[in-house]
Amino acid sequence: MQTIQKVTIFYFSGTGNARRIALWFSEFAEKKGIDCQIQNIASCDFSKISMLIENSLVLIISPTHGFNFPKITLDFIRRFPNGKNRVVLMNTRAGMKIGSYVTPGLTGIALLLSSLILKSKGYHIVGQIPFDMPSNWLSLHPALNEKTVKYLHKVNYERAERHSQKIFSGENDFIAYRDLIQDILISPIALAYYLVGRFIIAKSFYASLHCNACFSCIRQCPVQAIQKIQERPYWTFRCESCIRCMNNCPQRAIDTSHGFIVIVSILSSAIFSYFLQKLPLFIEKSLPLRWLISTAIFMVVLWLLYHAQHYLLRYRVFAKFISHISLTFYSFWGRYKSIPDDQWKK
Ligand SMILES: Cc1cc2nc3c(=O)[nH]c(=O)nc-3n(C[C@H](O)[C@H](O)[C@H](O)COP(=O)(O)O)c2cc1C
Repeated sequence: MQTIQKVTIFYFSGTGNARRIALWFSEFAEKKGIDCQIQNIASCDFSKISMLIENSLVLIISPTHGFNFPKITLDFIRRFPNGKNRVVLMNTRAGMKIGSYVTPGLTGIALLLSSLILKSKGYHIVGQIPFDMPSNWLSLHPALNEKTVKYLHKVNYERAERHSQKIFSGENDFIAYRDLIQDILISPIALAYYLVGRFIIAKSFYASLHCNACFSCIRQCPVQAIQKIQERPYWTFRCESCIRCMNNCPQRAIDTSHGFIVIVSILSSAIFSYFLQKLPLFIEKSLPLRWLISTAIFMVVLWLLYHAQHYLLRYRVFAKFISHISLTFYSFWGRYKSIPDDQWKK
């Protein structure tokens, strides 16, 4: 076993969970007298990586988005220089709680795909560890309550400490392999999310009537996906749906419009049904071709209607209508951000 003297942690984080894990690992490293550096993937200088990771154990940690790592993390791993370091890959997932049982999220191909890429660059993968931090996927469910958030932070802190002891003493840690079968089974959904799903979620965000045009969303976006158009924030297809903007907006003015996506779905399927009758029979009979055409129609309708919505949101009546068909608009839905240690340790 190799004793670890230096650790370099790279993280990407939307709402703070992955950053929290990175901070915990750096705390545990320091306790062991290991030299530790933390780098945010969103602002990392690629020209300095090789120097930074010299003789270092490398830890990469990121949230899971659509059963894979988000594009910003995958791009980072793809551009990572070649090397021979030992690497531990970690992901934060959508943890929830039933009684005292923490229900796990789904990793999908996040760890497998990035391991393959790094292996092809010469690295030795010595660990794959998922952490079920509080789910931040507010497009799907209301924010978890404060008690659950505190509990999940505590449980994950203890888990992180146990795993850190293993990897900092030079042992391998492949706890993620427990979920290997389910992770492989959901890989087609991961692909569909990467090719289509993430663009749909990106276009579900908008600024409501409460927006006072402070544009802190634009400044905070880790991938520069929000633009100022007609003095209002506008979400481009670059958006990774990390939902930092929605959770950090000081006016609570950023929502995800569920109703808008339903309207786009109905309209695009009506257009598709109309065209289907006019298409040659071989297309009608081919499932992949039908999927391709219906997806293309959906994306065009989505893009057009998002533009129209952005323009019409200036009008009070329309803005109120869109808000009322957005579940996140209602106060019970809440918002999520990872909490500092002094809050859950109380
Ligand atoms: C767009 C989106 C997609 C997500 N997809 C998954 C997923 O596939 N599996 C999962 O377990 N959690 C998923 N989550 C939940 C996050 O991965 C999880 O809450 C993570 O801890 C957030 O980390 P962060 O606070 O560092 O951004 C998703 C969250 C969002 C916003």
